[in-house]
Amino acid sequence: MNLVVLTGAGVSAESGVPTFRASDGLWCGHRIEDVATPEGYAADPALVQDFYNLRRRQLAEVRPNAAHRALADLAARWAGDFLLVTQNVDDLHDRAHAETPPAEGFELIHMHGELLKGRCTRSGAVMDWTGDMAADQASPLHPQGRMRPHIVWFGETPLQMEQIERALAHCDLFVSIGTSGAVYPAAGFVDLARRAGARTVEINLEPTAGARLFDEGVYGPATQAVPAFLDTL
Ligand code: OAD
Repeated sequence: MNLVVLTGAGVSAESGVPTFRASDGLWCGHRIEDVATPEGYAADPALVQDFYNLRRRQLAEVRPNAAHRALADLAARWAGDFLLVTQNVDDLHDRAHAETPPAEGFELIHMHGELLKGRCTRSGAVMDWTGDMAADQASPLHPQGRMRPHIVWFGETPLQMEQIERALAHCDLFVSIGTSGAVYPAAGFVDLARRAGARTVEINLEPTAGARLFDEGVYGPATQAVPAFLDTL
């Protein structure tokens, strides 16, 4: 049986990573277009770098929670293909899977990029990056390049979409965890999975705006709802 799991900020919330969409529509006091668009970066690289520097530093203070660990346990025992697509730029899934190595057939994709990576603005090459990035951070990858966060901003194309769409077209079960479904293309994955004939399940604190698109909903905090649901598989 082939499985695709999509996760969003809700899976990391109980680890202490803030979610994106507070009711005031601000991200940590910033307008989305100021800190999460190529135009925002061009206008004020220092503001944008500081925003992500802070989030990168916060990773040292958080740990995977029971939801990340339950997914890692499932990945270790799952017999079919298992694609875990996360919209999160934290490394909490990565850490959980490093502790519990997955079976063959498992893959993790960070479709919106990763805080712990930097990208050269000139060559497009990506490298590990654990410290702060300066506004005009020189790129070790190209003499004329600068480094920017390896984050997919609004207006940019999410990563590894072909591979994700292929997996959705062949999946038997699609589970969406802790995502508001407000951002495409991830919000459209449930449709692709349904078209493939998959069973579709939403796990969230509360029903999302797109809840009716799913066959089933499991509602509660991810650290409880995710292990409980995955145990039934
Ligand atoms: P949102 O902040 O939009 O939504 C978080 C979801 O998690 C909401 O539906 C909450 O109900 C749910 N939630 C919160 N706490 C939870 C908990 N303890 N257990 C279960 N669910 C919980 O975050 P995303 O949907 O991830 O993109 O946002 C998608 C994308 O929007 C992000 O990846 C980001 C942003 O634009 C980029 O940065 C490119």
